[in-house]
Amino acid sequence: MNPEVEAIRHHYEVSNAFYRLLLGPMMMYSGGYWDEGEPLRETHDLAQERKLDAFVELARAAGVDRVLDIGSGWGTMLDRVTRVHGARQAVGLTLSRTQKEWVDALGNPSVDIRVESWEEHRAEQPYDAAFCINALEHFVSASLSPKERTRRYQTFFEQVHSLLRPGAGFVLHTMTAERLPLNRELLKDLKFLQREEFKDCHIPHLYELTAGLEGLFDVVEIRNERESFSRACRVWLEYLAERRDEAVEMEGEEVVARFERYLDIFAYTLEDAYFNNFRVVLTRRGQGAS
Ligand SMILES: C[S@@+](CC[C@H](N)C(=O)[O-])C[C@H]1O[C@@H](n2cnc3c(N)ncnc32)[C@H](O)[C@@H]1O
Repeated sequence: MNPEVEAIRHHYEVSNAFYRLLLGPMMMYSGGYWDEGEPLRETHDLAQERKLDAFVELARAAGVDRVLDIGSGWGTMLDRVTRVHGARQAVGLTLSRTQKEWVDALGNPSVDIRVESWEEHRAEQPYDAAFCINALEHFVSASLSPKERTRRYQTFFEQVHSLLRPGAGFVLHTMTAERLPLNRELLKDLKFLQREEFKDCHIPHLYELTAGLEGLFDVVEIRNERESFSRACRVWLEYLAERRDEAVEMEGEEVVARFERYLDIFAYTLEDAYFNNFRVVLTRRGQGAS
């Protein structure tokens, strides 16, 4: 098996029952939009809904014919954009077979979920809007040289460009890394993330993304929404702590300890501003673009 696929399955083919316990009923594995002062845990599901609805608006995806979600997880965006926002068809891409089972079981006839990498996907007709929500971090290997990485981001943006109609909206939520001095503890934790939990994943620098998208997309907005993701990680850690025994029964101590460790690393590296979580709103350039 391709090592990239193997690395993703290592993390994402832990049982759906475990992820339901960890993520709660929304089954979103990314940041949410909390209002200042809201109790994080009590309003987690609402915060996730707010994020999804804001993204639909920013991508101008309500009521359109075709939407693409690249790295679509358990299909919450696919379901919401069709059921609540009237998009006629939503296609999701994932490498996880257990996520596909979950999405198929939603029974939404407007949703089409494929176990397919972003670079393999071909479409007969262009999409009207696209999302990529905390998935890009998996798409480019840290083992590549800086030059090769930039080229790979370019390939990603070229692919999304080729799948969208001119003028279509594309909303990307991704962690990015700052150039900050690393202390020993952080270095150890980053090694754990890159060598064990998310083998080869690379958290991009903003300049790698902007170099990749130049000439293909107009940048509408770039916002740092660091706290959207760190808060979500803190809530998931609470959910896990509360039902730890059940989680261990499902997946064993080793898996639960791994999740606790990596979620805490993400939470503190975002809180301490080593990482960002950028919302990047783009419009596909090209003839006919509005
Ligand atoms: C952190 S999850 C985010 C899921 C979802 N967007 C959400 O916000 O809940 C990352 C997703 O990216 C998918 N993924 C990773 N590598 C991929 C690839 N090369 N092609 C397509 N999807 C991929 C995983 O299968 C997973 O569904």
